[in-house]
Amino acid sequence: MNMKIPFGKIPYVYPIPITLLGANVNGKPNYATIGDLGLMGINPALVCVSSHRDHYTNVGILENGTFSLNFPTTAMLAASDYCGVVSGREADKGALFENFYGELGTAPMIRACPVSLECRVLQEFSVQHRQMFLAEVHCAYVDEACLVEKDGKKQIADLTRLDPILYALDNRYYAIGQPIGMGYSEAKKFIREKP
Ligand SMILES: Cc1cc2nc3c(=O)[nH]c(=O)nc-3n(C[C@H](O)[C@H](O)[C@H](O)COP(=O)(O)O)c2cc1C
Repeated sequence: MNMKIPFGKIPYVYPIPITLLGANVNGKPNYATIGDLGLMGINPALVCVSSHRDHYTNVGILENGTFSLNFPTTAMLAASDYCGVVSGREADKGALFENFYGELGTAPMIRACPVSLECRVLQEFSVQHRQMFLAEVHCAYVDEACLVEKDGKKQIADLTRLDPILYALDNRYYAIGQPIGMGYSEAKKFIREKP
């Protein structure tokens, strides 16, 4: 058995889905690349993002109380990385994409992303230089080409179709692999066969 080595305070949660955090800043769409986000619950539908307090995007989130999370495909890798190295203070990142708005009216979303979440901030708090935005998902927008019919109902297609960009703390981007099982089901075999 290998030794397990203490390796310091590294939040090595992996993999991380890359998202483009959208907000209207001074009435114009802006996007920042964000890896530090979490799913906080399915019902109610909650997410939390952690964004450096100096980011231009935060100005819009605080102003409107809304933001979007857009999940780019691997074909959007270069533009997604660009949104993470250039600030909206220097470049018009909203002009990179076709934007649309949902019911909330102030959370810009990217049409080319298969899934966009329109979010309303419930709580904002800071830890050191990090601003956390805990939000409810007001509405998820899904590209109709990424909806499939199952048991007479529309469902969101599997991740191989959504083709997300994954990121890890080795600073590499990855593509998704193949599904290997079903949630809440794999345990059945384990329970049957466990000694
Ligand atoms: C792969 C990647 C992941 C990033 N993740 C985060 C993050 O989770 N939180 C954060 O505050 N900044 C993150 N950044 C940095 C911001 O996206 C970057 O500073 C951006 O230019 C801010 O844009 P803005 O000033 O227009 O808001 C990331 C950048 C990259 C390339």
